[in-house]
Amino acid sequence: MLNPHALLLSGDALRERFIALDAFLCAQQNVWREKPFIQQQLNWETDHPELAAWLRGRSLADAQDSHANPYHLAAPQPFADWAQQAQQLSTIGSFAQAALVDRPLRMQNGIGGRKWQQIAAFAGVLHSGAQQPLAANAAWLDWCAGKGHLGRYLAWPNAPLECLEFNPALVKSGQAISQKHLAHAQHTLCDVMSTASAEALRRSDVVVALHACGDLHTHLVRQVSVQQSTALALAPCCYNRTHAEVYRPLSTLGQSSVLQLDKDDLSLPLLATVTASARECRLRDQSMAWRLAFDSLQRKLRAVDEYLPTPSLSAAWFNKPFAQWCADLAKLKGLPRVPVQNWTALEAQGWQRLAQVRNLELVAGLFRRPLELWLVLDQALFLSEQGFVVQLGEFCAVELTPRNLLLRAWRA
Ligand SMILES: C[S@@+](CC[C@H](N)C(=O)[O-])C[C@H]1O[C@@H](n2cnc3c(N)ncnc32)[C@H](O)[C@@H]1O
Repeated sequence: MLNPHALLLSGDALRERFIALDAFLCAQQNVWREKPFIQQQLNWETDHPELAAWLRGRSLADAQDSHANPYHLAAPQPFADWAQQAQQLSTIGSFAQAALVDRPLRMQNGIGGRKWQQIAAFAGVLHSGAQQPLAANAAWLDWCAGKGHLGRYLAWPNAPLECLEFNPALVKSGQAISQKHLAHAQHTLCDVMSTASAEALRRSDVVVALHACGDLHTHLVRQVSVQQSTALALAPCCYNRTHAEVYRPLSTLGQSSVLQLDKDDLSLPLLATVTASARECRLRDQSMAWRLAFDSLQRKLRAVDEYLPTPSLSAAWFNKPFAQWCADLAKLKGLPRVPVQNWTALEAQGWQRLAQVRNLELVAGLFRRPLELWLVLDQALFLSEQGFVVQLGEFCAVELTPRNLLLRAWRA
């Protein structure tokens, strides 16, 4: 649900919220950095044994029920304190949306219902807001456009559109679709990380990016400043897709923070699974339960009480009987031959550990949104430092996409 009472973040509020989030995340980093899947015992469990025992006693179904919204769990303290602070610091308003002329139904062909609604919501935001009047023929640039569905929605019917995308198949099919609906559209094969994207930025009026991952969106934020772009609307995604070992903050405030975020940390905001199908969830659970069972086995086989990473495995692997799967995985990891086990008991142990892991993960789950907001605020503050007017808010309900933060910026 969108929160109609909360405010968009802009001006001094960007700074104030960043400072508060930074203090909260720094103070609790020993809590949210813990990895229940890898560590059999978490460090905070010693300080909070009642909370740990309570969480460990719950079922997998209990964990799943609380996953999307862990804030109201009746868990022992300090859970409620963390939850209350996290929720307060993550509260953010949603953008007003202009009612746009319906796009022709055929433009929706080949686009999933949820994607179409995200695009319509994103477009509605861009056309609302008296502070940023959009010329009817503004030249749009869709950054990491895929087939350019968002750009096409915005530019329809007559405005010029350029789409940058580095997958040739998407460029080709995007161009073919655009020819049916738009007068002026160009789909350009382009690695946005290269200098080739600079010229495209210079010739556009408004840059949009829906779910551009990691480096692709931080590079965009830097480039709109360098190339003197006039307006940007960005919904970031996959913060962990970066070549840097550690996140490099863009803003002055971000750079002065002691928070050092590695790729594992950057994946925390992505751990919400509200959009996975039931089949995907079942497969993911089986994969994790079996890996946890294998973890107990490999600790014994190697006589080393340490987690051993296992590679991602195709779905076909999980059609094997559990015993065969363990033997094949041990071979893949170069471990000694697996002796005969009570396979039923071992598999049951994996499922039991999964229930504990999922419940313990609810603690880190409280920090997902604060961390995401910290990251996007860093980018918002940078743009603000570069002379942009910036607003940050939600552009659609989290049920449509958990990556529903939108950063809107234009030259003052
Ligand atoms: C998550 S998809 C989003 C696509 C589209 N904006 C949407 O919302 O449907 C990210 C897109 O970025 C493209 N991409 C990845 N790396 C890129 C690069 N270096 N340059 C240009 N496009 C890139 C991918 O091929 C993919 O189409």
